[in-house]
Amino acid sequence: MSNLTIPGLDGLVDTEKGFISRELFVDSELYKEELDKVFTRAWLMVGHESQIPKNGDFFTSRMGDESVIMCRDKAGKIQVFLNSCRHRGMKVCRYESGNTSLFTCPYHSWTYTTDGKLQGVPQYRSLYEGQLDRERNGLVSVAKLENYKGTIWATWDKDAPDFVTYLGDAKIHLDQALDCRDGREGGSEVIGVHKWILPANWKFAAENFLGDTYHNPSHRSVDLIGIGPSAAAGKKGRRDNEMEKAQHIWVSFPEGHGVHSAVQPSENEYMESFLDNPVLEEYFRHCYEERKARLGEHSRLLPFVGAIFPNTSYHGRQPRGLCAWHPQSPTSTEAWRFFLVDADAPTEVKDYLRRYYMRYSGPAGMTEQDDMENWLYATQASTGTVARRYPFNYQQSLGADIPSYEGYAGSTTLQPTEQMARGYYRTWKNYMSGANWDVLLGRTDK
Ligand code: FES
Ligand code: FE
Repeated sequence: MSNLTIPGLDGLVDTEKGFISRELFVDSELYKEELDKVFTRAWLMVGHESQIPKNGDFFTSRMGDESVIMCRDKAGKIQVFLNSCRHRGMKVCRYESGNTSLFTCPYHSWTYTTDGKLQGVPQYRSLYEGQLDRERNGLVSVAKLENYKGTIWATWDKDAPDFVTYLGDAKIHLDQALDCRDGREGGSEVIGVHKWILPANWKFAAENFLGDTYHNPSHRSVDLIGIGPSAAAGKKGRRDNEMEKAQHIWVSFPEGHGVHSAVQPSENEYMESFLDNPVLEEYFRHCYEERKARLGEHSRLLPFVGAIFPNTSYHGRQPRGLCAWHPQSPTSTEAWRFFLVDADAPTEVKDYLRRYYMRYSGPAGMTEQDDMENWLYATQASTGTVARRYPFNYQQSLGADIPSYEGYAGSTTLQPTEQMARGYYRTWKNYMSGANWDVLLGRTDK
């Protein structure tokens, strides 16, 4: 590291004592280092299969700070490539989404097929014959790709474990966000993506979604006006009837993931939620009953929020969606929110959810504005020379004998705790020190 005033990794991240240096949120050398050490190895979410239903469909996404193309090739297979021409690096695709049979580079017109092969090179015979190996000059493909219940994940590391191993025991929590509301596996679709820049380091957002329930006072204004999914029925703020009697749990996983979920009591019953809209009421009641019948005991677990290391988060209830916190600079993040619905939900339900998403989340959403304000002012107040000498405090529940919950795998507590954040930064430190996969998955310390 070039900045000699910055201590080594142990001085930056002390999860035993509960201190994390502010340098992680503002320093440009660390930022460059994490693009190299974290984002070229971890599994990253690039999109959802519903965004590219037909052969030739593409959606330009990101992995770390780089542009990638997620496309369905002409054989129907999903591919993810670096969006950069092998000739002089021009972006071969400058659109957010669309359909094509070929990606034609705008600069000198090399063309690539939807499975990434270099097909056309202008004046190939007269200028390149015998020199240019087309086989070796296709678009750069990710090392591994996984379609997990419709969500598309990729990694640049050929030695990375398979995605389900990477998820570890966080899987059942993420599943609740991806499965249909009536308990069928998968079956969701993306009905829109919000993209915006927020002036704070990407880890502020990821960390918040690990289960920082402690920040709820930030959302007091939202609670006061009651914009929860069932606000029309209740007067209790961000009310979610299925959560009403549930036991909340906070779970940290050795792979660096963290979640805040809830467990309903076995005798839980559906509570009327949409008294002014019979279509919605019937749909959500049906989903509730159906899920209970289909999953039995397992239907008691409800997702709230979670973060999959390093930069993918989810909102499991309403508004239900996935977030990708793309690093943009040490102090800015390109935030993407993918809004999810059941693909076969009635149009009126999808429409209701779409409007609710926009009101609640995203750049104009009322809760997201609260969160962003905290992150941006914390960033501004952490860039100064004096401020940078004082680490952030992560001592909540450290060493305290807090009640745990035995029902699910992972380190599970019955009260808010910063153990998920400590676990997340422990993992971050392991990536930054170039640890092997056994260490990154928390299987061993060495
Ligand atoms: Fe793409 Fe030259 S940069 S063809
Ligand atoms: Fe929040």
